[in-house]
Amino acid sequence: MSKSRSNAVPFRNKSITESSTMADLCTSGASTVFVGRERVAARLSEALNGALTGRITPVMLVGEAEIGKTRTAKEFAYSAGARGIRTLWGVCYEGERTPPYGPLVAALRGYIRASQPGELKMQMKSAATGLGEILPGLKELFPNLATPVNLPTFDARLRLFDNMMEFFSAVSREHGLVLVPDNLQWADASSLQFLEHLVAEMGQSRILVLATYREEELCRRHPLGRTLGELVKHPAFQRIRLTGLGLREVGRYLEQTLGGPPKTELVEKVHRRTTGNPLFLVEIVRGIREHEEWERRVPAGIQEAVDKLGTGKLIRYSILGAEHALNHFAPEEALKIIDKALEIMTAQSGRSANDDSMTAALYHVRGRALDAIGDPVASESLIKAFRLYDELGDKAHAIEAALTSVQSRASIGSFKIWLWNGLGLPSLQKRALAVATPGSSEAGWLLCQEVTAANLQKALAIAKATGDEKLETWVLGRWDDG
Ligand SMILES: Nc1ncnc2c1ncn2[C@@H]1O[C@H](COP(=O)(O)OP(=O)(O)O)[C@@H](O)[C@H]1O
Ligand SMILES: [Mg+2]
Repeated sequence: MSKSRSNAVPFRNKSITESSTMADLCTSGASTVFVGRERVAARLSEALNGALTGRITPVMLVGEAEIGKTRTAKEFAYSAGARGIRTLWGVCYEGERTPPYGPLVAALRGYIRASQPGELKMQMKSAATGLGEILPGLKELFPNLATPVNLPTFDARLRLFDNMMEFFSAVSREHGLVLVPDNLQWADASSLQFLEHLVAEMGQSRILVLATYREEELCRRHPLGRTLGELVKHPAFQRIRLTGLGLREVGRYLEQTLGGPPKTELVEKVHRRTTGNPLFLVEIVRGIREHEEWERRVPAGIQEAVDKLGTGKLIRYSILGAEHALNHFAPEEALKIIDKALEIMTAQSGRSANDDSMTAALYHVRGRALDAIGDPVASESLIKAFRLYDELGDKAHAIEAALTSVQSRASIGSFKIWLWNGLGLPSLQKRALAVATPGSSEAGWLLCQEVTAANLQKALAIAKATGDEKLETWVLGRWDDG
């Protein structure tokens, strides 16, 4: 071990159990719009203040998938960080692959990465020997780290628990500590046991345990049930449930992301369509923004104009009209326009190359409209569009169509249904991958078309490298199927 390395930050290799670093927490908190949750924030602050007086406080932040548990916890950790309070953030992932102490190891690694080696040494002291068992990279920081004596499993576990508590105690005494096990419904048994132990044994410490979990995943025999049974006994225990954002919050989100006060009608429509689910909200706004430039240029009354035009123009305007309808959350309207145009196209004979590009565009919009309605045959149109674009050498549009197809089926979770072979998806994937830039986020999405362990692994690496959180979440959600 060279001495010059002792100041280097260890753990550079990313792995599936990697947690967000403090820096990640800070940037994600600071850079994108976050609305509402004031009451939750107030309750969390109160819980943290209670914890800081020297009373460990377990708080569970619960709710359905994508309702904002992680984000709310991040925003909170970010504001706590601004007060000098430290965060240990450990994500649990779905499936058997969560290794023992996975989230704790991830949390410790994140913490170590964000810390000054000198301070870390002070905080770890003798605990480092034991922690070295689950954090092999610690040796880089502590070159003289002794190899722990072999103990029977039970004793080794207790020693590890003691060492972790010693470290948490040192950090929390000085700064206060927020410990966030994210997605606790997927935690491994060892981490759950440690959590119970921590809350029971460290009553006087300045720690807020802020765990998140999806309630709907719990069943009677779920291992988390037992842990919750222990945690609720704690006098400071709290459960905070997140529900959909209200009309006002949706309005504020639209205002801040679209850069101006939105019409009441739009706010109501978006609120209705998303049921206040923030992920849907984020996605809808992304769609609106991508097309707002175009929207500014499109004249009203497109439908009327269409009737007065010749075929070529008619098709082109139908495409514009359908896109316009799509962007105003009227996919049924878009479908009507497109199907009429397709009828006219089919009635025509002797298509030129130019017609092919229009046919591709028609199928593309049709697929998007069907996707917006949630109809699984969306893929059929999108694949037609992909093939035509591909033949025409229109790489950008080909990838766009293939991706909409992938993401459409990702959202309705129908990867394994008859569509797969019936629609020639394997060959689509192969061809689309050849067109996409290797290592790009598009390539990642295309890869996980076929859910195999190897493809998921590659897609995950791409998601992390490109920062595509949506892809990462999706891959991790499928981890079990691979
Ligand atoms: N209050 C909010 N304001 C703006 N965006 C939000 C809000 N809550 C969540 N989001 C966004 O919605 C998406 C889903 O939230 P997330 O916290 O990942 O859900 P969960 O952890 O409950 O599954 C993320 O992109 C997140 O940034
Ligand atoms: Mg989450």
